[in-house]
This record gives sequence, C-alpha cells and structure tokens, in this order.
Amino acid sequence: MDDATLTPPRIIACKRDGGALGRDAIAAFVRGATDGSWADYQLSALLMAIYLRGMDAAETAALTEAMMRSGVVADLSGVPGRKVDKHSTGGVGDKVSLPLAAMVAACGVPVPMISGRGLGHTGGTLDKLESIPGFRVGLSLEEYRAQVGRIGCALIGQTRDLAPADKKLYALRDVTATVECLPLICASIMSKKMAEGIDALVLDVKFGRGAFMKTLPEARALAEAMCAIGAAMAKPTRALLTRMDQPLGRAVGNAVEVAESIACLRGEAEGAEDLMELTYSLGAEMLLLARVETEAAAARARLAGVVASGAALEKFREIVAAQGGDPRVCDDPVGILPAARLTGEVRSARAGWVAGVDAMAVALAALRLGAGRTRAEDAVDHAVGFTRLAKVGARVEAGDLLGVVHANDETRLAEARAALAGAVEIADEAPAAEALIVERIG
Ligand code: URA
Repeated sequence: MDDATLTPPRIIACKRDGGALGRDAIAAFVRGATDGSWADYQLSALLMAIYLRGMDAAETAALTEAMMRSGVVADLSGVPGRKVDKHSTGGVGDKVSLPLAAMVAACGVPVPMISGRGLGHTGGTLDKLESIPGFRVGLSLEEYRAQVGRIGCALIGQTRDLAPADKKLYALRDVTATVECLPLICASIMSKKMAEGIDALVLDVKFGRGAFMKTLPEARALAEAMCAIGAAMAKPTRALLTRMDQPLGRAVGNAVEVAESIACLRGEAEGAEDLMELTYSLGAEMLLLARVETEAAAARARLAGVVASGAALEKFREIVAAQGGDPRVCDDPVGILPAARLTGEVRSARAGWVAGVDAMAVALAALRLGAGRTRAEDAVDHAVGFTRLAKVGARVEAGDLLGVVHANDETRLAEARAALAGAVEIADEAPAAEALIVERIG
C-alpha cells in the first residue's frame, strides 16, 4: 500500500481479505490507537480481522515494534551490566517474581521489572507487593532508572508513557472478544517488555488448567513467537514451558503470597519445592542471559548461595525500603502484613493420595474471597486467600489438612471452604509424577 491508501478502511479491508499488512499500515494503525485518530470501531474492526486472519512473523514483529515505540522506551544504558527481566503469562499462586528479582539482583544482575495487576483468575505482582504496608509501585520512569542503578532492582507498575498503544488496544480487545489471539498477545507482552530498557528476557509460558494457554502446543506456539520477536529485536529471549494445573507453592492470595516469597528467600518455604524449583530455573536462565555464568548448574548454585547467605533476603529488604515499604516484613511477615479476621481449615474426608488440586477452581475461589478483581477498577482485599494448600502426590489420611482459608466474612469463608474441598481430588492410587518444567525454547 502507498501512503494515499493507508486509510483505516483500506487497511482493515486488506487484513479482512487475508492480506499481509506492511510496516507503514501497521504503524498507521498503532498511531491511530495512540493519538485517537482512528475511531474505536475502526480499531476494533482491524483487531477482529487480525483475530480471524492472523499475522505472519514479520507483521507481528512490526506490530510489536510500533507498539513499543508508541511511548517512551526506557534507556538504562547508564546502568552497568546486562539488564534482564522475567515475564510470566500468568498462573495461580505464581509469586515467583518477588523472590526471583531479589535473588538475581543479589547475584549482581540488574533486574528492571515492570509488572501488572491481577485481572480475572490470575494474580498480579503489584497487588502482592502492595500488601506490604507503604510499598509504592507507582515510581516514575526517572525513579525507576535511578533505583535500578542504585540497588540493582525496581519492581514497578506500567507507567502511562510505556507502550500506550497497548493500553488502548488491550481495553478494546477485552470487550470485543479478541484477547485470545497469538500475534496480539505476543505484541502486547513483548512491546511492554522491550520498552523497559532490558537487554534480555526470560519467559515463563504456562499451560494447563490454571493458565491462559490450556495445552502444551498452544504454549509452545506462543513461546516460539515471543522468542522470535525477541531475537528480531536483538534482545535474546528464552522461554520455559511450565505446567500450571495446581497452584504454585502453597499460598494463593496477596499478603499470604508475600509471606511465602519471604520464606522462599529464607530457604524455608516448606512443601513449596515447585516454587523453589521454578524460581531457581528461571533465575539460572537470567544469569546465563546476563552472561555472569556460562553453565546452568553453576548459575543454580550461585542462586542457592545467595539464599543460604541471606544476601537474597537482604536485597529484598533493600527493595522494599527503597520503595517506601516496611522492611520489617522480612523479619516478621505475620506481624507486618494484613491478616484476615477469620480462618477455616479444610480437611480430607478420606485417606488416599492427592491426585489433583484444580488451580482454576482455587483461583476463582480466591477471587470470590476478594483477593482479585473482575474489573480493572475493583479494589483488592490483600489479606484473604489460601495457605498450607495440599500438593499433588502427597499421601493424606482422613482428617489431614488440605488447606486453610483466610476470609473477612463468614459467608465467603464457608463458600471458599466448600470450593477448596471440591478442588482437591483424592485418589486411591498415587498419581504419576509430572515434570513442572516441560520444555526450554530459544
Ligand atoms: N498479557 C498481556 O500483557 N497482554 C495480552 O495480550 C495477554 C496477556
């Protein structure tokens, strides 16, 4: 298309008829989303055409780059070292970002991390962090840059100037049934990550009952597309494909997940081997991409070393203090974090093996308790959720604990107890062990 034909109807028609959009057409679309020169119905029509017709690799890369450039691209070149971040496609009980950022930064690798809030069934790192009294996630880009330079890590929320086209397009996708579209997901995630000022990226692409992608092939396709975009933009990107059928670790909520993250940083997250395993595996990839280690085993040993020495917990304390949070949370999480008024146990009705803990059912129960939001403007109750959740493969006797509900009213407590009881499947046989990390891509 030449410039004269770059009108919204022509661009929409091109995609509607199965054509490939050139860089100029994609740039016009993204400009239209950012400056308001395209009407919502035109943006939505093109989103639906993309949903139905797809985009090839070149189109997806052009869309990602245009969305990244729709706002400020943070410049962290003044911070020494290769800056590496991690992004997860979203899971249940997925608090990995908290211990991971502190561990990797304690190994001397700068971690500029811009995270999201929970929406729908998945939790959000920002909501978890905000359960620490005083913690400020709304740093300006200047404060973010200065903090990464000073202490090697900042954990912040998306600012208005980073990839504003994504904000507009994501809101339209949400209401036009065009969220589940690989090139759009890919461009949305990667444009924001590439605008952070990173040198490399590790992705945790989840699949299973509690994930956005339900099957391994879907997760693989998304991971491959995102790694290809990273490579095209000269930002080496590696993905782990990880199972998300049961909640990660043993806590689901906000404050309860911060407490579990602190236990993880102390090396004391009892029964949460999956959380430790995933944190070490993603961390090892980050150290390799940062080129401070060349072997995965050495990278894992280095991460385990900063946990054992207390350096990782000290780094977390430093981050919390730098962002206005109460650093005493590292010593006394129970005393500092908000606690729910009521707790209630769920116990097994019979003996057997835990064959499944339905991550989606637990997530929806946590949402009903108030731990998440169904609309972006909803408030979150930081205190509620689940702890001491049973793990798949555990042997239980009748009356053994399957989990504890933390609630702020009696009705919701009763509903959540019933939901958790229904989410845990007890079988006569031990289930076959399944790997948490299934593939490595990139
Ligand atoms: N997360 C994002 O940031 N964008 C998507 O499109 C899907 C998940």
